[in-house]
Amino acid sequence: MNFILKGNEMKRTITTIVILVWFSGIQLFAQPSGRENFDANWKFHLGDVPNAEMKDFADQKWRLLDLPHDWSIEGNFRPDNPSGHQGGLLPGGIGWYRKKFDINDPIERKYFIVIDGAYKNSTVYINSHPLGTRPYGYATFQYDMTSYIQKGENVIAVKVDNSKQPDSRWYTGAGIYRHVWLITSSPIYVGQWGTFVTTPKVSEQEATVNVTTTIINDNPVKADLKISSSIVDPSGKEVAVQIQSGKIAMNSNTTLNSSLKVSNPQLWDIQHPNLYSLITKVFQGKILKDTYRTTFGIRSLAFRADSGFYLNGKNVKILGVCNHHDLGSLGAAINERALERQLELLKSMGCNGIRCSHNLMAPELLDLCDKMGFLVMDETFDSWYIGKDAAPYGFQNYFKDWHEREISDMVLRDRNHPSVIFWSIGNEIKEQWFPKSTNGGEIARELVSIVKKYDQTRFSTSAFNFIRDAEPKGMTAAVDVVGFNYSIDAYDEIKQKHPDWFYLASETTSQFDSRGVYHFTLDTLVKTFPDCQASAFDDAGGGTTHQEAWLAVKNRPWMSGMYIWTGFDYMGEPSPYGQQAVSSYFGIFDLCGFPKDSYYFYKSQWTKEPMVHLLPHWNWKEGQLVDVVAYTNCDEVKFYLNNQQLETKNFSTTKKLSLRWKVPFKSGVLKAEGYQNGKLVATDKIRTADDPIQVNLTADRSTIHADSKDLSYIMVKITDENGTLVPDSDNLVHFEIVGEGKIVGVGNGNPMSLEPAKGMERRAFSGMCQVIVQSTGKKGSILVKASSLGLQQGNILITSN
Ligand code: GAL
Repeated sequence: MNFILKGNEMKRTITTIVILVWFSGIQLFAQPSGRENFDANWKFHLGDVPNAEMKDFADQKWRLLDLPHDWSIEGNFRPDNPSGHQGGLLPGGIGWYRKKFDINDPIERKYFIVIDGAYKNSTVYINSHPLGTRPYGYATFQYDMTSYIQKGENVIAVKVDNSKQPDSRWYTGAGIYRHVWLITSSPIYVGQWGTFVTTPKVSEQEATVNVTTTIINDNPVKADLKISSSIVDPSGKEVAVQIQSGKIAMNSNTTLNSSLKVSNPQLWDIQHPNLYSLITKVFQGKILKDTYRTTFGIRSLAFRADSGFYLNGKNVKILGVCNHHDLGSLGAAINERALERQLELLKSMGCNGIRCSHNLMAPELLDLCDKMGFLVMDETFDSWYIGKDAAPYGFQNYFKDWHEREISDMVLRDRNHPSVIFWSIGNEIKEQWFPKSTNGGEIARELVSIVKKYDQTRFSTSAFNFIRDAEPKGMTAAVDVVGFNYSIDAYDEIKQKHPDWFYLASETTSQFDSRGVYHFTLDTLVKTFPDCQASAFDDAGGGTTHQEAWLAVKNRPWMSGMYIWTGFDYMGEPSPYGQQAVSSYFGIFDLCGFPKDSYYFYKSQWTKEPMVHLLPHWNWKEGQLVDVVAYTNCDEVKFYLNNQQLETKNFSTTKKLSLRWKVPFKSGVLKAEGYQNGKLVATDKIRTADDPIQVNLTADRSTIHADSKDLSYIMVKITDENGTLVPDSDNLVHFEIVGEGKIVGVGNGNPMSLEPAKGMERRAFSGMCQVIVQSTGKKGSILVKASSLGLQQGNILITSN
């Protein structure tokens, strides 16, 4: 079989030899390429400093820290910070990072630095030489440092400039807030994002796996190569291998295509996210020059105009959420456990999708989505040429020069993730409706054509909020799947006009929600959103209610699914509280990750495990008439106040997806019993709380890894003597920690709280707050104490090993 090698300077034919015995007897002389985490031991200085890029600059007095690092979250929330309330009220500015490292034998090696994200406008220097500037703060980028590497000590310096504010409609963070890697390889190696694995034919009996591999030869001489591509199944067993051989010209790169078969493949899907690996080995003669691992999944994707999305031939409704990238009191600094916890929480309510709104996320989030089975909309750009009013220094200022690079890199970086099914070219782009703009269709077509250049196996989309304006401009016709943001009233109209198109509710809802305690009144809402139809609890919204949005998607088989705004509260864009507030209130979970009532709404709609959830709390004035709501997936709910049975309800008499009672308040216990086919299957109780007596601590995990990264999330509750949460308590809680852990964040989910995210104390909000503990590198125990004036102290012991 012959393959064409496409080199920069040549095209050569190479021969593919599919002989497994070829490797027997080979001694692996050379070292394969290395990818080394480069997060540890950076020096940091907040503020601009002349000559900080110079190798011999004296940084002894700078702060020593490990990346990922977000300096904004370490600051104070102040309404006069230039980021403004849209940006989360935190400081921006300029920061410098420097790291020293030794190279013992630089000969015949390549050295690259990879930064997964630096917000923003970062300029990287090695030994005083500039390597480049990257304006976009969400990009992953790599620089070749080889020509400047010296034997002995080397110094990398990075200037990060987030001083022009406001530059975003949401909190961005500032600094090198994602991981950094040092890549060392031989001069013959697999290029950056150098493999592309697709699965064009998938059945339960057999899958075709196509592989494109880009090899680079940076040597000044041509080379004879052998490339082995082997596929390893989820249990670690090699199930297919192909060997190709050929020549590569000097200082050249070349791309090889191969096709392998996997019998009885274990398909990737939401319930069984089976992952395969492609191991690429590059040999020159008998010497192993590079090894490159690509994780992928075997699965097929399709859309049908009448019935939506298909995964491996099965119809699947996308039940997703939109999220921004901040992680509550950890800020933008990424932490894998924090991401994993978010996904675990979302899974538990039946969620199966994540929209990366409105920018590239950390690669680790996509790794987790691959592993845990989520359907991802990868997205870039909240604006093209025309910026959003709230963000005068946003990406629109760089769009002309950088859009091609950024959108290409999104696809190149993420195109092996089985979880990624959509490439979104933009969110609520102003070119849809902006009076002077006529070229929205043209730009959309250009962006889609760039996406298609690098990947034709996934679906392009865009999130339209002015769909009736975008459609005549040709913007909707440019994408594979048309995304509706809100605009339920346009769903059927557009579908009728274009019955053959594929559709998605790319963004829905924007409802304010709380955890049993509703601080905002109808009055607050109506002041902020004069058109809002808020009446109580789950009807309170800035967009549509959860119920309306879900019904609109559920009842239309052609609507392939939804991404709710949002899974988690995020810093910035502080609706409904406005300019003095820190965070939004749209989340199904608050900033701490505590579930709000809407979590139980989705659990009742999206999961089968019997459940019933009552709201609100049960501390009112005697006799006051209270609206009580139950979310349940049971057929009927028997309802009791202090063991006295009230009216039993089921869904036959309501169009709502919840059951409701009006109950005159009487102190005691409200109980709901959920029945399925006449059998009691679920219960929920809410009790009247007495005075606050104690601080109660619960950890999400009481054993964590001693790797100086892992986290234990400790939930703090102010309770009465029976352990019942006191729903309106706001006691100030002080934390102390002893042993092999440190406190890395405190929070309470209150959008109006300007208390710092880093510290040793936090006021409770609606009876709860949170402390996040991180392990040190040492094994041992961690004791966390939580005290509050006049209350019994809470203690919890965590093991780190
Ligand atoms: C949408 C927008 C989101 C967020 C949301 C708040 O229109 O796409 O980024 O601003 O509104 O309701």
